[in-house]
This record gives sequence, C-alpha cells and structure tokens, in this order.
Amino acid sequence: MNLRFKLTLYISFLLLLVIIGVSYNIFIAQKKFLTQQLSENREKTFKSFVFMCNEAAKVKDELQVYNAVSLVVSIHKPSVAYAGYVNSNNISSYVSRDNNKNIDSEFKRRIKQSSIDFSEKYTSLSGEKICETVAPLFVNGVNEGTFIVGFSQDEMQNQINKGISTMTHQIKVVATVAMLLGILLANFLGYTFAKPLKLLTDASEQIANGNLDIEVKLVKRKDEIGKLSMTFSNMAKQIKELDSMKDSFVSSVSHELRSPLSAIDGYCDLLIDGVQKNFSKEQQLKGLQIIKQATIRLTNFINNILDLAKIKANKLEIKKTKTDMQSLVIEIVSLFQPLAIQQHKTIDYVLTDKIPLIEVDAEKIKQVITNLVSNAMKFTKENGRITVKIMPTSPGYGDGYIEVFVQDDGIGIPKHQVDLVFEKFYQVQDGEFKRPKGTGLGLTIVFEMIKLHKGYVWAESDLGKGTTFKFVLPK
Ligand SMILES: Nc1ncnc2c1ncn2[C@@H]1O[C@H](COP(=O)(O)OP(=O)(O)OP(=O)(O)O)[C@@H](O)[C@H]1O
Ligand SMILES: [Mg+2]
Repeated sequence: MNLRFKLTLYISFLLLLVIIGVSYNIFIAQKKFLTQQLSENREKTFKSFVFMCNEAAKVKDELQVYNAVSLVVSIHKPSVAYAGYVNSNNISSYVSRDNNKNIDSEFKRRIKQSSIDFSEKYTSLSGEKICETVAPLFVNGVNEGTFIVGFSQDEMQNQINKGISTMTHQIKVVATVAMLLGILLANFLGYTFAKPLKLLTDASEQIANGNLDIEVKLVKRKDEIGKLSMTFSNMAKQIKELDSMKDSFVSSVSHELRSPLSAIDGYCDLLIDGVQKNFSKEQQLKGLQIIKQATIRLTNFINNILDLAKIKANKLEIKKTKTDMQSLVIEIVSLFQPLAIQQHKTIDYVLTDKIPLIEVDAEKIKQVITNLVSNAMKFTKENGRITVKIMPTSPGYGDGYIEVFVQDDGIGIPKHQVDLVFEKFYQVQDGEFKRPKGTGLGLTIVFEMIKLHKGYVWAESDLGKGTTFKFVLPK
C-alpha cells in the first residue's frame, strides 16, 4: 500500500467517524427540538381555543361557542381529534374530527366526565392515542363550564416521524457531500505529501545504485518537506563532490607514487649503465640529485598520508618549546632559495619588529610554513615572487597573537573555492590555468596543525593575481 493511498484511507476513516458523531448529535438535538415545538403548538392551539370560546361561553351564546369549537377542529385537524365545551347545566357543544357517530357518543360520555380543574392526560379514543387538555371556565369565581380539546398523539408522532425523515434525508445528503469532499481533500493531501517523498525516494534509490549524476528536483515549500528536500539535494551534491574528490585523490596518489618511483628506477638504470660507459662525475651527480629529489617527494607524500591518519585518529601530539619564529622563517626561506633560483623565482622574508619567543611545536610549525611556501612555489609562474612575512601582533586578532603570512603573485584560487582548499584531497579546478597535480593533503595538514596550536589559518586570493595564506598563533 503506497503512502498516498494510506493517508487517504486514514484521513477518510477519521472523517467518517467525525461525520457519524456530528450527524448523531444533530439528529438527537433536532428530534428534541421538534417534540418540544409540537407540544408548544398544542399549548398555543388550546389557549387560542379557550380565548375564542371564553366570551361566548360567559354570555351563554351557544351558537358562537359551537362555531368556535368547530373552527378549532376544522383548522387544526388532524392534530385536533375533538374539541368541546360543557356548561354547568351539562349542556355541551362538541365537534369531532371524523364525524363518527360511535366516536361522538364516546366523546359525549367523556366530556361529561371531565374534571373541572386544568389537566392534561393521556387517553385513547377508538384505539387512537389522545392527549386531552381540559380547562375550567370561571365567571366571578364560580365554575361555569369546562373546555376540552383532544390532541391526537398518533398524529403528533406522525409529524415527528415526518420531520425526522426529512431531517435524516438532509443529514444523509450533507454527510455524503462532506464525505466525498473529504475523500478528495484527503487524496489531495496524500498527493502533496507523497509526491515530494516519492521524488526523494527515487533520487536516493538512484544514488544507492551508484548514479551520482542525478539532479535532485527541489520541492519549493517552506515546511519540513521543503527543508528535507533542500538538505537532501545538498547531501546529494556533497556525495557527488566527495566522489569526484575520491577519483582525483586516487589519480593523484597514483601519480605521486608512480612519477618519483619511475624517476628513481630510470636514473638507477642510467647510473648502472654509466659505470660501464664511464659517465662523468657531473652526469653521475645530476642522476643522484634527481634520485634524491624523487626520494624526498616520496617521503613527503608518505609523511603526509601518515600525518593525516594520525590526525584522523586524534593521535598527532604536539611538543611545545620556546621557539624563535624569526629564525624558523629565515631557515625555511634559505632552504627554498636554491629551488627558487633554479625556477627563476624570487623568495624573501619580511621581519617587521622584534618577534617574541613563543611556545609552539617547532617541527610542526616548520612543516606548516614549508607546506605553504611549497604551494606558493608550485602555483607561481616563472619570475614570480614569494614573500613570507611575520608580525609580532595580528591586525585582526590583536596583541595576543603573532601573525605569519605567505604571499605569492601566482595563479590564484577562484573566490568560491578559497575556503574549500583546506578540505581533505581537495584540488582546485578552474578552466583558466593548468595546475600541477598534488594529493590535496598539504593544506589539510596545515589546518589541523594550526588548530592543535589553538590558532587560525585562512586564505585570501584573486584568480590570476596571487594568493596569501595567513595564520595566527597565540603568544
Ligand atoms: N598558493 C597557492 N596558489 C594557488 N592555488 C593554491 C595555492 N595553495 C594551494 N592551492 C590550491 O589548493 C589546492 C590544495 O592545496 P594542498 O596543498 O592541500 O594540495 P596540493 O598542493 O595539491 O597537494 P599536496 O600539498 O598534498 O602535495 C591545490 O591543489 C591548489 O590548487
Ligand atoms: Mg600543497
């Protein structure tokens, strides 16, 4: 059973219960109202009859009394079965609804028996249930006669039944229309809830089957379903990004392993050959230098992977000692100097004021600055300039921090990717520049190490103009 059908069924069932409950209550209330109204009518009829007869009975005008009696019967039949008046001399005027001789004689006997007090009693006349209302006529405190009206109870029940049947019919019509509208509404509600969920289910099935290229259609709603759709769509995008990052990681890892290994392999063969061919010392030195560089590259790569594994397992420890950051920067810049000359780039440092000694893990901070400088070298073209600057306070973070920045005038990073470069395996992609491949781990390690020192690192960049990586460390 699908969600839409289930929702329709549950809501319709609920609606049916409500309609039955409401209809039952309306039915009971209406029945009560009808019965009350009919007994009020009975009372009014009797009062108007007494009123009509009263004057005529007082002056003993028998004809007028008879006219009033016959009028009440003719107007209110069949509800009024009979009406009459008997005076103190037992002279009576009476009219019955059916002009039935037997009934007339029975009635005559009954009217004579009537009590002189006002009363309302239930009796029967030839099998018909009657509610008989009796009232005395007093003239100057003397009882001069009695009025009597017999209301047909059967007729009253008939009227109640008729009213109930009309009402039941109306309730049925209204309930059916309400039920149909309710089912339509429930179905529509089911549709509005089930449709977006179906979209999301289909999309998640596709993703589970490995199709990450699907575009998740956004449900434009401001409720929880809209939020779910937005979150799901973001999640799908992130999965896709992670997948492409994984692909680029696999390709860069294999590149990072293969290229130094094949350089080592090739130059080893060349040097072995060179022993027989008597290679000059310069040729041998060049070969050995290339092997050395390839080994350094491999070691760096393996160290990066190991560092990252340690960071993931929260096992990277820092051993703080009082460190002279200035000498650290000078040392790193001097280390990169030969490479800069070789690549026709300029690297220098700017030391503003006296920098105090600070408590850091010197090896880790060296690794941080080395990673940043090596990136700056890597992503700067020929004749480019790299500057490492160290300041005793931070313009943004204040006196409690020293600030270091590594600036280059290289190819830069597109604005929307600047914050992403610290993510694991992330490699910037833009259509404009050919970027040397790496593993995308250098900046992740920088980020984690600065975090371990309770500092902050960030990047500012203009595509095509250059990049500045800045970090602050507490003093
Ligand atoms: N100074 C920079 N100028 C331009 N782009 C940079 C700079 N530094 C980093 N990037 C971009 O950020 C990405 C991530 O840098 P990161 O150092 O993490 O990885 P990598 O240099 O590619 O590989 P690895 O450092 O692990 O060998 C790089 O691929 C590069 O595209
Ligand atoms: Mg790097």
